[in-house]
Amino acid sequence: MTELDSLERDLLDQVDAAADEASLDAVRVAALGKKGSVSELLKTLGAMSPEERKERGPLINGLRDRVQNAIGQRREAMAEAALEARLSTERVDVTLPVREAPEVRGRIHPISQVMDEVTAIFADMGFSVAEGPDIETDDYNFTALNFPPGHPAREMHDTFFLAPDRNGQRKVLRTHTSPVQIRTMRSQEPPIRVICPGRTYRHDSDQTHTPMFHQVEGLVIDKAANIANLKWVLEEFCRAFFEVDAVKMRFRPSFFPFTEPSAEVDIQCSRKGGEIRFGEGTDWLEILGCGMVHPNVLRNCGLDPDAVQGFAFGVGIDRIAMLKYGMPDLRPFFEADVRWLDHYGFRPLDIPSLVSGLTG
Ligand code: DAH
Repeated sequence: MTELDSLERDLLDQVDAAADEASLDAVRVAALGKKGSVSELLKTLGAMSPEERKERGPLINGLRDRVQNAIGQRREAMAEAALEARLSTERVDVTLPVREAPEVRGRIHPISQVMDEVTAIFADMGFSVAEGPDIETDDYNFTALNFPPGHPAREMHDTFFLAPDRNGQRKVLRTHTSPVQIRTMRSQEPPIRVICPGRTYRHDSDQTHTPMFHQVEGLVIDKAANIANLKWVLEEFCRAFFEVDAVKMRFRPSFFPFTEPSAEVDIQCSRKGGEIRFGEGTDWLEILGCGMVHPNVLRNCGLDPDAVQGFAFGVGIDRIAMLKYGMPDLRPFFEADVRWLDHYGFRPLDIPSLVSGLTG
């Protein structure tokens, strides 16, 4: 075997053995680059006699062409293999079912849905939404609402207290949404017509109580707002919320420090066959507390009880959600179980409004 033959065999072996583009390129530079083994051979042609060149020229040029071809073919094979590998990893199975879009798959939590329903109903009656913080001072949660320090009514609330701050003040997780009444009356001039939906907290847990729950507060203050107005507003709300033509309500005298007189309200229902229905039957279900705003509360907000008056009410949102949508246990509301949410949740595009119907 000539020297040229063994060089060619050696180079073609190297081309075959190159595992990737980089090593193939290294083989190319070592053979055909400026100082490559084949290039050096080509340079020797210049110094040869014409006869010698005639004989060696085609041999060396042939060697160069074959090596160049081999490199080109190997490079193409590598590119093809790479493409093949990519295509096989990116393969799409067109027979798979299409994944549902978020607006189809997602669910609105019943609490959010009911808050939106309540807001839509009261907005229609001219109420706007007011908000306050979950962490309240003792003054807003109790004192300004006419719970004097040491008053036994404070004990009824199973309050979560925070550690005393630098000034020794112990804030609380608000036990009801009533403090937003105070915030509203201290920052807005009558006439006032607001609802205040939000989170509330009490140290309590069983089938119908969770340490965090939701209420919506209502407050109307003007020169003449009276109990008849209060009853109409509540009746109108219950009819719209429970989606019945008429609903009987029962106002039972009760006590709240911030209202005088105060009442608890039951609505008529039937419980035949273990199912609760509203607007019929002979049973009663308590759904809210209400009353005329106590003169002390007005005074605590800088208002003159001889010039303005009004009414307030507080509804348990979780409770009316359970009643309306037939959910027997409150605790799963806050367990973030998607199976529960799939079952009881609402479609995101079913936005409650009085025009389109509350539940879509
Ligand atoms: N804040 C009361 C509670 O959580 C509910 C309530 C009763 C609110 C009467 C009111 C009201 O505004 O007038 O038990």
